[in-house]
Amino acid sequence: MNILLTGGTGYIASHTAVVLSSLGYKVFLYDNLSNSKRQVVTQIKKITGSAVTFIKGDIRDSDRIVRLLKRKKIEAVIHFAGLKAVGHSVDRPIDYFDNNVAGTVSLVRAMNLANVKTMVFSSSATVYGNPTYLPLDEIHPKLAVNPYGRTKLHIEELLQDVSDADAEWNISCLRYFNPIGAHESGFIGEEPSDRPNNLMPYLVQVALGDLPYLRVFGGDYPTPDGTGIRDYVHVMDIADGHVAALDFLSKNGGWHALNLGTGSGCSVFELVRIFEETNQCQISAKVVERRPGDVAESYACVEKAYTKLGWRAKRTIPDMCYSAWHFRKNRVV
Ligand SMILES: NC(=O)c1ccc[n+]([C@@H]2O[C@H](COP(=O)([O-])OP(=O)(O)OC[C@H]3O[C@@H](n4cnc5c(N)ncnc54)[C@H](O)[C@@H]3O)[C@@H](O)[C@H]2O)c1
Repeated sequence: MNILLTGGTGYIASHTAVVLSSLGYKVFLYDNLSNSKRQVVTQIKKITGSAVTFIKGDIRDSDRIVRLLKRKKIEAVIHFAGLKAVGHSVDRPIDYFDNNVAGTVSLVRAMNLANVKTMVFSSSATVYGNPTYLPLDEIHPKLAVNPYGRTKLHIEELLQDVSDADAEWNISCLRYFNPIGAHESGFIGEEPSDRPNNLMPYLVQVALGDLPYLRVFGGDYPTPDGTGIRDYVHVMDIADGHVAALDFLSKNGGWHALNLGTGSGCSVFELVRIFEETNQCQISAKVVERRPGDVAESYACVEKAYTKLGWRAKRTIPDMCYSAWHFRKNRVV
């Protein structure tokens, strides 16, 4: 089966490409390289032994995508491309709506024209906003509290409308919780172009000595150790979730939203402690002011993903910490 991955050289897409390619899917990576590097393609080949095709391009170039979908006989699209930094989205909402929402409109238009009507979309737990109860299940109110989260919500709504209007469409919106970690080979992993926004790449840079200390945003949350609790999930489990979603869509039409998480929360201090123990290193951390928009606690109800997709996260927090560190120590791209 021929699959197009938009945002294909990015963090989560590259891990998904490895799994798909290993299973015999023919994988095409489409990316404008705004937040990733072309060398990732070589790294994927090193792991899988088989080539994946890279095409440099933007999802807003609808005509190009129509031609690509037809020429490469694509049967499904996994749509990872997007801008993802919450803080930047507050400063640059127009860029975020243009890239994420208008980009998806352009992509869906192209898919319609090329008669490719199966999509797995990278959504996010940010669509829920401040939890009114935990664990967060898929029917929890959608109360996104920042422009990034609202772009994800608008895209989900658009895709639901597209599916309602045309029964030939099959769409899964996968709401990731907090993907971290890297492929066990250490050849690919999370490699932000700027100063990291997410905890794990920041932690790794502190461990490497590239940053002096970890800033812990808020030490007075109503949690056992006062720091925020998140549902960290291994990126390779997330990658497996996409294969399960494609399989599900081959048998089920319509629009579906599914949480991908472990179902358990872990605090910032707990993650730091496990990182230190697993990787035998010391992390300096300083508690600073809470970040606006951060919630105290967020973790997923994962029953729907298990019932519908037969998917459960298998890897542990030490696996996540070890692989993230292993990747950065052996980094070649
Ligand atoms: N990493 C997370 O914590 C997380 C959590 C929830 C949801 N998501 C979503 O998952 C998706 C992938 O995230 P990631 O962590 O791999 O991010 P990433 O930045 O590593 O990957 C996104 C890729 O999309 C590309 N891209 C961006 N805009 C594009 C455009 N207009 N045309 C073509 N390519 C474009 C970037 O160059 C990058 O390679 C994103 O949509 C993100 O919002 C990520």
